[in-house]
This record gives sequence, C-alpha cells and structure tokens, in this order.
Amino acid sequence: MYAIPLGDDGAELRPLEVWHAEEVLANIDRGREFIGRHVGLPDVVSDLDGARGWLTSYAEKRAADGGSLHGIWLDGTLVGGLLFRVWDTPSGVCEAGCWLEPAAAGRGLVTRGMRTLLDWAFEERGMHRVEWHVSSANEPSINVARRLGMTREGVLRENYPHRGERTSTEIWSVLGPEWREARARTAHAAP
Ligand SMILES: CC(C)(COP(=O)(O)OP(=O)(O)OC[C@H]1O[C@@H](n2cnc3c(N)ncnc32)[C@H](O)[C@@H]1OP(=O)(O)O)[C@@H](O)C(=O)NCCC(=O)NCCS
Repeated sequence: MYAIPLGDDGAELRPLEVWHAEEVLANIDRGREFIGRHVGLPDVVSDLDGARGWLTSYAEKRAADGGSLHGIWLDGTLVGGLLFRVWDTPSGVCEAGCWLEPAAAGRGLVTRGMRTLLDWAFEERGMHRVEWHVSSANEPSINVARRLGMTREGVLRENYPHRGERTSTEIWSVLGPEWREARARTAHAAP
C-alpha cells in the first residue's frame, strides 16, 4: 500500500478504503464523543456495517470522481482522516473536511495532511476553489481553516440540526491563486 509521509514523526497519509472498516470503527470508537460534538460522522459509523456502508459510499464517489477519503496513520494506527466530501471537476470546486481521535490532536496532523491534499487538488487536478464548512462553535476546525490560509466568507445561520440543536455553519475557502501565492511565500522564507 502506498503512503505519503507527513513529517518525521511516523505520521502517514494513505487512501482509506472499504477493507479498513474495522480500523475506522476502532478510530471512531476512541473518539466518538470528541468527534461527535460538531459532526454526524460517529452516528453514521455506529457499528461495523455503518463503517462499511460509509466507506463504500466514498469508494463510489472516488470511482465517479465525486469525492475521496484519506486516512491519517500515526505509528501504524489509524487516528483520523481527511475527505473531499464534494468534488466537482467541471466547476473546479470541492469541499474538504477532517476528523481526529482526541489523542492525535494538537500535533498538526490535519493541517499537514490537508496541505498535501490541497497541493494535489490545485496543482494536479486543476481545482480552483476548496471550501471548508464548519460549525461556528468548532474553534479547532476554524483554526485549521485559518492555518490553511482560508478566508471566512459567511455564515449559514442555524442551518444544521445536530443532536437536538440547530447550529450555524461558517463557510471558509481558499482559491488556487491564493494557495500558490502562499506556497511561494513559504518557499521563499525557508532557509
Ligand atoms: C478539527 C480537528 C481535526 C482539529 O484538530 P487539531 O489537532 O487542532 O488540528 P491539527 O491536526 O491541524 O493540529 C493543530 C494543532 O497542532 C499544533 N501543531 C503542532 N505541530 C504542528 C505543525 N507541524 N503544523 C501545524 N500545527 C501544529 C498547532 O499549534 C495546533 O495546536 P493548538 O490548536 O493548540 O494551537 C479536531 O478538533 C477534530 O477532529 N474535531 C472533531 C471532528 C471535527 O470537528 N471535524 C471538523 C469538521 S469541520
């Protein structure tokens, strides 16, 4: 299986596929409460069948060039993932998302992994705009959007019913030319 190293701490990005269902369920079980605070993923991955069904839906998206899923492994354990929930090649617009189990948070895994995927989306796949939809109460995820150089565009007020409450969704995005400019600045600043 091919893997992309995310640094020198044993973190790797790999495609997440249907045969990973047990690993995904174990990962979600370790983070069920933490991950479920703002997103519905733990409710979908409620058991092994749920994990398989969800992974199958992404395998179908990948086959139709309509989305994709990658896992983040740390020292051989699946600790989270990155997804393109929406991918529309004709318009050049996609929407990215992420999750981590709590023990893997605070190490930059999602930011590092998303940088790799944004390079791929903009440079190899010619996308123009990557969106990030995030609950306005989800400060860690908003910080990821900021670290990726995204711009906050607006708020969909109380659009998302989650666990008995209506929450608001912030839309953030980064455009291809902005990404390239930021990458060039970073490369220029490197010693
Ligand atoms: C959203 C979520 C993935 C953010 O996790 P995170 O660990 O804060 O994000 P990253 O992996 O990018 O790590 C950033 C943190 O690592 C630190 N860090 C360490 N090394 C780093 C590096 N090389 N690069 C970037 N950040 C680094 C950062 O300072 C930051 O810590 P801080 O917030 O205490 O300042 C996590 O909170 C989560 O899974 N939540 C539940 C699911 C969810 O809400 N998903 C998002 C839906 S929109």
